[in-house]
Amino acid sequence: MPEVDKEGKNFSLEKQMETKGFFLKGSNSLDWGMKNRLSRIFNPETGRTVMLAIDHGYFQGPTSGLERIDLNILPIAPYADTLMLTRGILRSIVPPSYTRAIVLRASGGPSILKELSNEQIAVDMEDAVRLNAAALAVQVFIGGEYETQTVHNMTRLVDMGSRYGVPILAVTAVGTEMKRSARYFRLACRICAELGAHYVKTYYIPNGFETVTASCPVPIVMAGGKKIPEIDALTMAYNAVQEGAAGVDMGRNIFQAESPAAMIQAVGATVHENLPPAQAHEMYLDIKNRK
Ligand code: R5P
Repeated sequence: MPEVDKEGKNFSLEKQMETKGFFLKGSNSLDWGMKNRLSRIFNPETGRTVMLAIDHGYFQGPTSGLERIDLNILPIAPYADTLMLTRGILRSIVPPSYTRAIVLRASGGPSILKELSNEQIAVDMEDAVRLNAAALAVQVFIGGEYETQTVHNMTRLVDMGSRYGVPILAVTAVGTEMKRSARYFRLACRICAELGAHYVKTYYIPNGFETVTASCPVPIVMAGGKKIPEIDALTMAYNAVQEGAAGVDMGRNIFQAESPAAMIQAVGATVHENLPPAQAHEMYLDIKNRK
């Protein structure tokens, strides 16, 4: 029989219990599990994240740099706060001992050979929970041919996510025919947030990005986009976080860099330490040239 506890005496009556607000924008009213998952994605110390996006295969097959995820990505994955990928790659390649946050690609359907906006939900929430996903990512094509369908994919995932405590990342997908303007991104990000997305991924634009982050009531992470010179990608990441982004979700600009390991570390210093672009680029070159 266990010893009966004598009632404790250490009530620290002089100190009130503190109830702190949650560190992420617009997220204070979420439930504990949701906040805990978001705290695995975003570093609570900086309020920011470096997500490494390697989900490109879900619509375009073995993308350059992702032909062998086991050889090219696993060695750099520990430098990311979060890995964004499909459940197929997660189960087949990523060891379960990897404990960084996982954001699962949850929409799909069409390949690059078809109309890309014709996506549907491609993951069951129970499977996401089984995989211990920290969030699910869904593409939303505002202005695209299947706009409404993709918005509904997102709202259905938000409903399921709310049931299980799993945050939903809305990814604003821009059709090639659409103009990438602050006005467009304000519209797209705000629609995603209004309809329940817990955070939003969107592209950086040099004019007016701060109005996109200011008018979106939940965190925004900057999308990387097509490969550009390393110094330009670091400048873009720096500007995005200075203008209100809560981090980045970059793929090709990391894994297609001459040294992906150096690039992800330089991006990390940009995002978490506000390292200015010239110094971040120096850091990139130093690590790249180390033997
Ligand atoms: C596409 O739209 C996806 O979300 C991507 O596959 C990916 O996340 C894009 O990353 P990046 O543009 O930085 O290569």
